[in-house]
Amino acid sequence: MNESDSEHIAGILTGLGAEKAGSAEESGLIIVNTCAVREKSEEKLYSFLGRMAALKKKTNARIGVVGCVGQLQGADMLKARPYIDFVLGPDNYGQLPSLLLDYGEERVARTSWSREWDVLPDGPPLRENPSSAYVPIMQGCDNFCAYCIVPFARGREKHRPLGQILAELKHLAAEGFKEIQFLGQNVNSYRDPGTGFPFPHLLREAGSQDGIEWIRFITSHPKNFGREIAEAMRDIAKVCRQLHLPVQAGSSAVLKRMKRGYTREDYMEKIRLLRDLMPDISLSTDIIVGFPGETDAEFSETLEILRQVRFTNIFSFRYSPRPQTQAAKLRDDVPFPVKRDRLLEVQRLQKQIQLENHAAFVDRTLKVLCSGASKKDAGVFSGRNEGGEVVNFMGRGNPIGTFVDVRITGYGPYSLRGEAVDS
Ligand code: 5AD
Ligand code: SF4
Repeated sequence: MNESDSEHIAGILTGLGAEKAGSAEESGLIIVNTCAVREKSEEKLYSFLGRMAALKKKTNARIGVVGCVGQLQGADMLKARPYIDFVLGPDNYGQLPSLLLDYGEERVARTSWSREWDVLPDGPPLRENPSSAYVPIMQGCDNFCAYCIVPFARGREKHRPLGQILAELKHLAAEGFKEIQFLGQNVNSYRDPGTGFPFPHLLREAGSQDGIEWIRFITSHPKNFGREIAEAMRDIAKVCRQLHLPVQAGSSAVLKRMKRGYTREDYMEKIRLLRDLMPDISLSTDIIVGFPGETDAEFSETLEILRQVRFTNIFSFRYSPRPQTQAAKLRDDVPFPVKRDRLLEVQRLQKQIQLENHAAFVDRTLKVLCSGASKKDAGVFSGRNEGGEVVNFMGRGNPIGTFVDVRITGYGPYSLRGEAVDS
């Protein structure tokens, strides 16, 4: 979501006549888009801002902080950091033009929340990927999982009008994009604000857009993921058989303390349903280790889920308390070395599973959407298959932005290797 927001901000700026600079040192305007979801992302931000403070002295660039940390800290950030010129929360990007063109030297913090989907200023986003486009469909979250700061940073759910989404798809298809990725904190709860049509309806409508070949969506909440969406995935040919379904923990007791709204059994039932309907579906997940009170036995249930589901890939994190959340009131009682060891164990197990999964791809030919070329090696390209696996391959000509058949010849834990075959 942040990458997509950054593309929109870049689009607003180029719409105003700005040009992308090669580095921060060469820029007259630096906008730092921030993430507050974990302590680590916030720490990284502060060390980066240290660099910006030094840079300001040298180049006197205008510096803005936007995104979730901006939202949460607002005017306090301006007070604490005199080198920052403006702060904007995620619902306030639309004010960038007036802020940059009208306000001169005044330092401002804008952190109001919108109740409805904001229409951003004209100008398409400046997209980074030539073949795959992010398409936000909703923002904010009403779930209040005990550990999560997102509802406090992004506010309540706002759903984008269906007509606007479909118009964007048409535009993207005309520009040659082959894949779209619907984005939202909780896409399964999407409803068109005008008609109330639910998420599967959006998938069906999107599935009939000529030119767009692959449709993905992220993130799904297991609580809101049911048979109707699974069947839509099975029935709509363009919807990729790939799903990110964050489980967070394998123990029902931990899930209850996390306020996730499902048990281990509920989650496994959904996995069974998905695999019954689509035996070849590729699944990924998010894992948090060391949530308050997590015992060794509870943690081992997380490992057990990984062994049972054999995800294509996972994103795993050490729990860190976040301000305002319910879990921040609990004692953060799993010692750091235990959290660290649990994270290592999760990652070691998953690495082994991915190596085993990847071995089964050798000699198979996969359809890959090529997104770029290797900077180091001429003739080496990169892309993803329908399951979302990274595939690096040898090819001829310029396949970027097109589908390529790739025969898999090798692999590592995190990617596959192969050669383009003439189709
Ligand atoms: N500590 C650790 N991980 C967290 N996540 C969200 N909040 C926290 C936290 N307080 C993880 C979850 C979520 C992903 C985006 O970040 O796994 O799915
Ligand atoms: Fe955070 Fe839970 Fe909302 Fe996901 S569903 S953004 S984890 S509160």
